[in-house]
Amino acid sequence: LGKDSTADYIEVDELEKVPQSEQKKWEKDQMASAVFKFGAKDVKKTDDYELLLEDQIDFIQALQMPGSSEKKVPEISDVQKKKLTIEETKKSLPIYPFKDDLIAAVKEYQVLIIKGETGSGKTTQIPQYLHEAGFTADGKKIGCTQPRRVAAMSVAARVAQEMDVKLGNEVGYAIRFEDCTSERTVIKYMTDGTLHREFLSEPDLQSYSVMIIDEAHERTLHTDILFGLVKDIARFRPDLKLLISSATLDVTKFSEFFDDAPVYQIPGRRFPVDIYYTKAPEADYVDACVVSILQIHVTQPLGDILVFLTGQDEIETCHELLQDRVRRLGSKVKELIILPLYANLPSDMQAKIFEPTPPGARKVILATNIAETSLTIDNIIYVIDPGFAKQNHFNSRTGMESLMVVPISKASANQRAGRAGRVAAGKCFRLYTAWSYKHELEECTVPEIQRINLGNAVLMLKALGINDLVHFDFLDPPPHETLVLALEQLYALGALNHHGELTKLGRRMAELPVDPMMAKMVLASEKYKCSEEIVTIGAMLSVNGAIFYRPKDKIIHADTARKNFYHMAGDHLSLLNVYNQWRDSDYSLQWCYENFIQHRSMKRARDVREQLVNLMQRVEIEMVSGIDETDNIRKAITSGYFYHIARFSKGGSYKTVKHNQSVTIHPNSALFETLPRWVLYHELVFTTKEFMRQVIEIESKWLLEVAPHYYKAKELEDSTNKKMPKTVGRSKMTD
Ligand code: CDP
Ligand code: MG
Repeated sequence: LGKDSTADYIEVDELEKVPQSEQKKWEKDQMASAVFKFGAKDVKKTDDYELLLEDQIDFIQALQMPGSSEKKVPEISDVQKKKLTIEETKKSLPIYPFKDDLIAAVKEYQVLIIKGETGSGKTTQIPQYLHEAGFTADGKKIGCTQPRRVAAMSVAARVAQEMDVKLGNEVGYAIRFEDCTSERTVIKYMTDGTLHREFLSEPDLQSYSVMIIDEAHERTLHTDILFGLVKDIARFRPDLKLLISSATLDVTKFSEFFDDAPVYQIPGRRFPVDIYYTKAPEADYVDACVVSILQIHVTQPLGDILVFLTGQDEIETCHELLQDRVRRLGSKVKELIILPLYANLPSDMQAKIFEPTPPGARKVILATNIAETSLTIDNIIYVIDPGFAKQNHFNSRTGMESLMVVPISKASANQRAGRAGRVAAGKCFRLYTAWSYKHELEECTVPEIQRINLGNAVLMLKALGINDLVHFDFLDPPPHETLVLALEQLYALGALNHHGELTKLGRRMAELPVDPMMAKMVLASEKYKCSEEIVTIGAMLSVNGAIFYRPKDKIIHADTARKNFYHMAGDHLSLLNVYNQWRDSDYSLQWCYENFIQHRSMKRARDVREQLVNLMQRVEIEMVSGIDETDNIRKAITSGYFYHIARFSKGGSYKTVKHNQSVTIHPNSALFETLPRWVLYHELVFTTKEFMRQVIEIESKWLLEVAPHYYKAKELEDSTNKKMPKTVGRSKMTD
């Protein structure tokens, strides 16, 4: 590997190999998966066998034994050596032999729980089967929800290709800010959030004959709420077929929730996966990933590698490190194709993931959680799992929501490992110890509904006329205090009156596909006569992906370029500067390049902005510019984000006003050095401490102007040491 770098590498044989386990479990698994299960009674039986598998360390090992199902279905690894036509590929999927049976089951039962190994063909095939079986004959659509944007887009593209139609015609997708469907669309993939929103315009889902709630095991907030909504609809629309599709082992809960709906199990096909653990915890797992990738590349037979990282930033860092080291190795090693995969990846780059690896080369995919179950990439033989994922966490005590990197659950770890055994025997390298797997990882990931801010969900449910949220049919109810806090927030924002009913403002807020705070900000721009600017700022904040580009070899140039956009009032206005200058350059790519701006993020901001402008028409807000009025712009922002206020405390640190929590301005902020007395932040990101990202300076008296029912003059006095009252002010609201 070259003298200079050898010291960096952990040896593969340093990784502890876990002992093999008994054949019985595997046989039992095969038997269990070869039978179809109908009715909750049978499901219980499935459960027993799952309990057997609960000693999860042995789980994947258990799959090492040769099983009977391999005889039934052709070995995909052999099949794939030849170039398969689309038709052949479809036929090689585990779900294919059960096509007619599945259609018959859908015809017989209104609600069906589908359970099958990731990659068996649930998402791409079932809608096609049902389409062919005539479920779209009466002009109705088949809908299929996905928790992730990229999955919805990518799967729709794949199905369009399989059906040989243009994406957006018969097969389309809809995600937030983007609708790629038409009058002709009969198979529609969408995010769960998009379907949630469709309920507003079509509360009975009349245009659908089948609705598939896919990836149910992911338990996103939207998916969880959809369960309650579709269950309700199914009662008065007997013609609507509901499919709840899941990859996980435990579907009993779904079955019970849907009045003991039958479970249809697609037999799994998994090859053995050897699991390796590190002997000691890894201090820097990105670096450990790079090392492991190279180790595999140099010592192991060909086969693609899938690496799980937590987000775009990390993926880019890893990408650069890896590229750099591969370059230094030069022609000593085989070709290594490095491909990133994350939510904001442009679609042409997404497509590359699925292209076959050229002979003699190896592909390494650096992915977020999205590759855990939502997207199946063929030919993965090696998985590297550092054991972390990014999660949103909401603390109802402090009212703070923050994105942080947390250890994954055992269930996730096993899904990840399983990705290595889809086409042939594989290996999974866990960059944590066997001890921490056993003792530190939770069994399952906590459903989102129990850990994030519910403002958005509550607003949507209220807009659907569901007033009694405490008795809403939740699969798992959210914590009471989180629900109360969401109601309080919406009340403070003016979306609900003191009876908890939606106000006129609330109704308009629900029209906008953004969270309540941003919706309020956008609507407040009417009063402050700066809708043009606020819509731009809203779009830039919604892009999510990085706006600024910071290549390792040009850090100084990039930072200087970024500072040129800085606005002394704060980052929202810097973002406005970036957008307006880009617009003035006639949306030029060259301009982006020269200014170290990510062109694709800007293109997305432009799309989002366009959508927001259209929505402004719907809520009848005129687009006006107040460009020289940064106070007004900041007041409009404050109207929405008055929850996110911190005041300077000491030593560069800030305290949130209501709960006195310590927070710090992010080093990338324009205000990092100026440290104004009062700031508003867009979001908190927890790394080494709570960082406020996207910050503007505000005047405390604005808070009394925009949120008189939330702030009292006394708590905004400038005596820093004074204790703050804890309760939310409750004066009467006027609509
Ligand atoms: O939903 P499930 O995990 O059961 O499987 P799927 O997503 O329907 O995937 C079935 C097959 O389609 C896999 O072999 C995928 O690799 C392939 N696929 C693809 O080639 N391109 C996509 N964009 C999505 C899936
Ligand atoms: Mg799927």
